[in-house]
Amino acid sequence: MQARDFLDVDVLDPETLGALLDRAAWLKARRYRGTELAGRTWALVFEKPSLRTRSTLEVAVYELGGHPLYLDQKGIGLGVRESVRDVARNLERWVAGIAARVHDHATVRALADHARVPVVNALSDRAHPLQAVADLLTLREAFMDLKGLTVAWVGDGNNVLASFAKAAAMMGVRVVAAIPEGYDPPEPLPIEIVRDPEAAVRGADAVYTDVWVSMGQEAEAERRRSDFAGFTVTPALFERAKPTAAFLHCLPAHYGEEVVEAVVDHPRSRVFDQAENRLHAAKAVLLWLAEGA
Ligand code: CP
Ligand code: NVA
Repeated sequence: MQARDFLDVDVLDPETLGALLDRAAWLKARRYRGTELAGRTWALVFEKPSLRTRSTLEVAVYELGGHPLYLDQKGIGLGVRESVRDVARNLERWVAGIAARVHDHATVRALADHARVPVVNALSDRAHPLQAVADLLTLREAFMDLKGLTVAWVGDGNNVLASFAKAAAMMGVRVVAAIPEGYDPPEPLPIEIVRDPEAAVRGADAVYTDVWVSMGQEAEAERRRSDFAGFTVTPALFERAKPTAAFLHCLPAHYGEEVVEAVVDHPRSRVFDQAENRLHAAKAVLLWLAEGA
């Protein structure tokens, strides 16, 4: 039987996503530790660096009684030393699941196609579904009810926006995105695109941004910095949102580019709650996958 995978939030429906959020909140309230993964290992395959995703997956697997096995690109040479298909066909013989952070979304897709154990996307160029679950949990904590909220996205039409927008739409959250010309998302998303950051932020319940130069785009850094000029979330821009508005950022932050320290440090910044919630979102997803396997 093919295992359940979590390559992006579009494998969920609104009811399943709502249940994942309820479960993540429940796990967080109890600072849950359990034995559901006892005797099982999860492979964490990372082609790119990570603080939050690696840490929260390792802690989540451990706190559910399992063993996280971190495999970095230097060590295993995914698709270089050995084909992605063969890595999948090896790992599935030893582990209960695979989480993978990859450059190309096709790589995590190939792992899922060739491994008969659940595969979780720990970030690809197209999606970041674990982040989206944590983001919605954070918004729900801030505003109680997600339905009817408006979130202003300011910046790149990237992987973080893609998963967030799809998950947000499922929960009745409207996303208005200020994206510079030439950086629109590569696939249609349930968002309204505007070009002017102030227009997007005006009256919003939350303002969300991410780096201008994602991992793997370093060669484009100079051009991106110039194309994104005017898209920095400053205190003045943040003030255009509702007086109760929250600030979100998936982190890491590149201060002086997409955001300044005063906004990340603002009393209504929720960025470290988002980071904290990555743990509880990861646990909820791992438990959901373990039940479906
Ligand atoms: N937000 C996020 O995914 O952070 P890391 O790149 O540190 O995992
Ligand atoms: N868009 C960023 C997110 C990092 C968590 C990247 O892909 O590097």
